[in-house]
Amino acid sequence: MSVVVVGSYNQDHVWRVDRFPKPGETRRGLGFSTGPGGKGFNQAVASARQRATTAFIGALGDDTLARTARELAAAEGLDARWQVCSGTSTGSCGIVVDAQGQNQIVLDLAANERLAPEFVAAQADLFASARVVLVQMETGVAAIRAALAAAPAGCVRLLNPAPVHADADAALIAGADLVTPNETEFADLLARCAGVTISAETIAAIGNAELHALCRRLGSASIVVTLGARGCFVSHADAARWHDTETHYRLPAEKAQVRDTTGAGDAFNGALAAQLARFPGQSLRSGLIQAGRTAALSTERAGAAVAMPTLAEVEARFG
Ligand code: RIB
Repeated sequence: MSVVVVGSYNQDHVWRVDRFPKPGETRRGLGFSTGPGGKGFNQAVASARQRATTAFIGALGDDTLARTARELAAAEGLDARWQVCSGTSTGSCGIVVDAQGQNQIVLDLAANERLAPEFVAAQADLFASARVVLVQMETGVAAIRAALAAAPAGCVRLLNPAPVHADADAALIAGADLVTPNETEFADLLARCAGVTISAETIAAIGNAELHALCRRLGSASIVVTLGARGCFVSHADAARWHDTETHYRLPAEKAQVRDTTGAGDAFNGALAAQLARFPGQSLRSGLIQAGRTAALSTERAGAAVAMPTLAEVEARFG
């Protein structure tokens, strides 16, 4: 197995609006759709569509949504291992998307929070051949630790700390090889892991040397801070490990006709995992360029998992 993703599955319910309602306001919707989501599942679909052999480990409730999840995983060619949690529901999510493609999200993680570390560890056959183990933070922290611990020697442990879990600590972050926070998550991690207070809005404007030094405070081998339309910032403890020539650098974002940014971070992380698994000798810079292209294309489509572009689609658009 090239990529093993351990994480969440949610049924997303999406309403389009011209603008977000204010507190107490009722706003008329411009359209509704429902489909598969959850950061873990979205990332697994993105990885599979970038032609990496991909497995997914997650948890479902004992409800009708669970059947849909199984069917969708099979349709995407994922080797999916589901822990069924009786007495709880499958994760669900309400998303409001405005005319600029920005979103507001309400999430009930439900079964995802009950994903057991023992269940994760029991999927040893998947981990044995993994080149990349990819986790996010929509499950309990014990399941995340179990996934990172199950990664075999030489495997890349890729942690997308989205959204930062209340129980996340410095040891968890330092235990990953590559950590990919957005600006908000980076500010949160700096506060909780290094005692550094910084405003998320100021991060993109910080000079490269200073931002690199801040990244080094987190203790992980490499950090990629995603900056939305402003691209990303890369910081390595050792650039040679990733076949890069610089210890820190910026990459611009690809241009896109943005329709819906939901799942763009998932497209980025799933595609990055696929690149690292398929081309282990390639530079991280190359992997990040493909990840950025995949994320940009995903924003031109509505939905989360269903919006993940295939490799052919990314190549047709960007060459
Ligand atoms: O990253 C987007 C995802 O976040 C959505 O699919 C939703 O389910 C939430 O987990």
